[in-house]
Amino acid sequence: MRKRRRGEPDERASQPGSCARKPLISGNWKMHKNHLEAIAFIQKLSYALSADDHEHVDVSVHPPFTGLRSAQVVLDTDKLPILLGAQNCHFEADGAFTGEVSPSMLAKLDVRLVVVGHSERRQLFGETDDDVNRKARAVLAAGMTPIVAVGETLEQRNSHQTESVVAAQVAAALAGVSSQQVAGLVVAYEPIWAIGTGKVSSPGDAQQVCRLIRDQVGEMFGQEPAEGVRIQYGGSVKPVNASALMAEPDIDGALVGGASLNADDFARIVRYRLSE
Ligand code: 13P
Repeated sequence: MRKRRRGEPDERASQPGSCARKPLISGNWKMHKNHLEAIAFIQKLSYALSADDHEHVDVSVHPPFTGLRSAQVVLDTDKLPILLGAQNCHFEADGAFTGEVSPSMLAKLDVRLVVVGHSERRQLFGETDDDVNRKARAVLAAGMTPIVAVGETLEQRNSHQTESVVAAQVAAALAGVSSQQVAGLVVAYEPIWAIGTGKVSSPGDAQQVCRLIRDQVGEMFGQEPAEGVRIQYGGSVKPVNASALMAEPDIDGALVGGASLNADDFARIVRYRLSE
């Protein structure tokens, strides 16, 4: 098979109905690493990963906005097959929105994936389901792929609301999206109680919610597009637990926080298949 160049879509992963969803391992750096540290990280990561790794797994890094241009230059100059991602964006194309960054600005920097609706955005910055929906649609309209993040709090989990909360978040985030667009998108299931706590969901529990997410997408758009959606698990993913999570049939990748800040740890997560 011809090797994809950076910037080309992954045909296997985005084909509706394709059972061969190519895994996507994404590093969400949150508010860590300046632009110089971003360059050093990417160089180290690319050295640690082989062509075979990239053949099996799509890899994205999501620096803060200030690191995107430097990351783009190093990825482009060295022709590295690592996808560039952002952590957030505004839903408007331009205008008087002090401090915000638009999807088209990100697309111009070769950003391919944008996380929308991360629980930290929802909880700390007051983002609503409606905001998340507008962002997801704006990212798609700018030709990029949203990583739509959903997940329940510990309180919701303990009161057996996980399924209803997550299904409602997925339904709200994807309202008004076309079934063609849905087939290529990414949903990240991140239980809030597992983020940064070291308390990873059991693979079986995570699989159950990821299956529910696929079923919810299927109900809205049909089974075929739903089978093309990549669903990531996020929340205390580490080199030691990645392969067990990735063995589940509806878990197609990971959205990694803390462990994505260390290039060796992140590379070991990308290479999860070698530790099985
Ligand atoms: P941790 O991997 O640090 O738990 O963070 C998960 C996360 O929020 C990724 O978006």
